[in-house]
Amino acid sequence: MEIVKVKNYEEMSEKASTLMIEKLNNLEKPVLGLATGSTPEGLYEILIDKNKRNEVTFENVTSFNLDEYAGLKNTDPNSYHHYMNEKLFKHIDIPKGNTHVPNGSASDLEKECQDYEALIRDKNHVDIQLLGIGGNGHIGFNEPGTPFTSRTQVINLDESTRQANARFFPSMEEVPTQAITMGIETIMESKEIILLASGENKAEAVESLINGEVTEDFPASILQKHAHVTIIADEAALSKV
Ligand code: GLP
Repeated sequence: MEIVKVKNYEEMSEKASTLMIEKLNNLEKPVLGLATGSTPEGLYEILIDKNKRNEVTFENVTSFNLDEYAGLKNTDPNSYHHYMNEKLFKHIDIPKGNTHVPNGSASDLEKECQDYEALIRDKNHVDIQLLGIGGNGHIGFNEPGTPFTSRTQVINLDESTRQANARFFPSMEEVPTQAITMGIETIMESKEIILLASGENKAEAVESLINGEVTEDFPASILQKHAHVTIIADEAALSKV
């Protein structure tokens, strides 16, 4: 794992954008894996800006998001569909049909997972996968205990994850209890991974990610086994390493 230490959130976002753009510009038809949450918001703002200045184009990019809440309509303001449209897709030149986010309101969620896997496979896997990390070590929504061999699946959200994400919802009761997430094996098949972490509340997770035992009890630890991972983290997130 390559660890890039930066000063703060702004520098993390800058560094991530530089790295991503360099890679995007070197691929003919890039397949991007995208994440949600607070962490990549700054990166997305920079990508929008650089796209407007013609420093990067998304015309040939296909994207796959990591996850989506189950039971939320795609138009729901708390859905990851809505997040991605508002924070990235509608501002850049990516063709509409090229963006993929699992459909959490599909009538058959299991089939939706299988179809999503097939779509990723058809594109010969993700070239650059962007990841954040949950305080409990989740990647995507793969909670502790998820088998390393998992593929895109419906998952029960941990109480701690629901609480961490409750800040986006009007009340705790409205935080979904399930989600669709790319599996751990699906994520590990990405050719390259960039994980972002900022802030002291990620310090313990980042420490376990880098120095901890590789165990299904801490899903992100599997990244130690990936051939091409870059962790871009700020001083606060690296303060326990
Ligand atoms: C969320 C998402 C993850 C994200 C993580 C951290 O629940 N499913 O993809 O990386 O938790 O979120 P944040 O960046 O807001 O700390």
